[in-house]
Amino acid sequence: MDASAQQMQQITEELLGWYQSHARALPWRALPGAPAPDPYRVWLSEVMLQQTTVAAVIPYFETFTRRWPDVAALAAAEEGEVMAAWAGLGYYARARNLIACAKAVAARGGVFPDTEEGLRALPGLGAYTAAAVAAIAFGRRAVVVDANVERVVARLFAIDVPLPAGKAAIGAATDRLTPDSGAGDFAQAMMDLGSSICTSRNPRCLLCPLADHCTARASGNPELFPVKAAKKPRSERHGTAFWIERDGAVWLVRRPGKGMLGGMMALPDDGWNARADGSGEPPFGGHWETAGRVEHVFTHFSLTLGLSVHKGVACTGLDPEHGEWWPLERLDAAGMPTLFAKAARLALARDEN
Ligand code: ADE
Repeated sequence: MDASAQQMQQITEELLGWYQSHARALPWRALPGAPAPDPYRVWLSEVMLQQTTVAAVIPYFETFTRRWPDVAALAAAEEGEVMAAWAGLGYYARARNLIACAKAVAARGGVFPDTEEGLRALPGLGAYTAAAVAAIAFGRRAVVVDANVERVVARLFAIDVPLPAGKAAIGAATDRLTPDSGAGDFAQAMMDLGSSICTSRNPRCLLCPLADHCTARASGNPELFPVKAAKKPRSERHGTAFWIERDGAVWLVRRPGKGMLGGMMALPDDGWNARADGSGEPPFGGHWETAGRVEHVFTHFSLTLGLSVHKGVACTGLDPEHGEWWPLERLDAAGMPTLFAKAARLALARDEN
């Protein structure tokens, strides 16, 4: 990269000018240049937005802020209720960290630290979230790099070191672009540009306020940036979930706090370690029927989960310490993660046929 300080400043100014009239109105945001929004709302939105789209996050953000309008309310909430409200957003470790962080901030009198370093010390706040909250909620100069920013900056300077190694050069270039004041607007302007114009597949360069500065555009193939290292193929896992139904209720368990989907309500299962040809051991003997399967893709593996159904007659060996009979008509309120919600739909659809 060989861009002068003056060109850097010009890019930043043009982007901020574009943001004045093109900023998306989002429920956790202040308008460009307006006083900073509530740190609780900024923090909550940034945690929710990791790995998740703005459109998916908005209804969850509205629900959370209605039920728990400040960090003290969230810290005092029943953990199961927070986990259930998170159901469907995915990456459930984020919800567990959210609760831990709310408690840590409540213990400081409900006041978030106002520096990047202070924020970084809170449970679950990684480099990205600490920088985003410091910049957006506290006006600090912090270098905020999410996937959108990464893409815009890699293209502006045609940074061709494959990710993840390319993150260092992209971070350094973002640092040079970040203004001393208005770093929060700058970061969000980058994000908006990345999600609306500088998109992964078909960048709309004709609408881009930075097109004249963009080396990747000049190369003719902006969509080739950022360059990504070849991905390892996802491994495949298989498992079985068990639908145990009696008197209008289904047996649900709370998953252990650590591990996949930790702390969430779920159907009992066999740990998903079965081979493709071997079905999991049910929790007790009796008459089990196969009711189909669901496919679900996690970050590091894809899962084929068979569903085994047991109905009506006595079931023994269910441990009330780890599970409970949940009325079918209130199943939505259990807050099962998407994988098990899909399996439940399968079991219920079977009844309708
Ligand atoms: N993605 C992550 N944080 C965001 C924000 N503050 N605005 C828009 N998209 C985002």
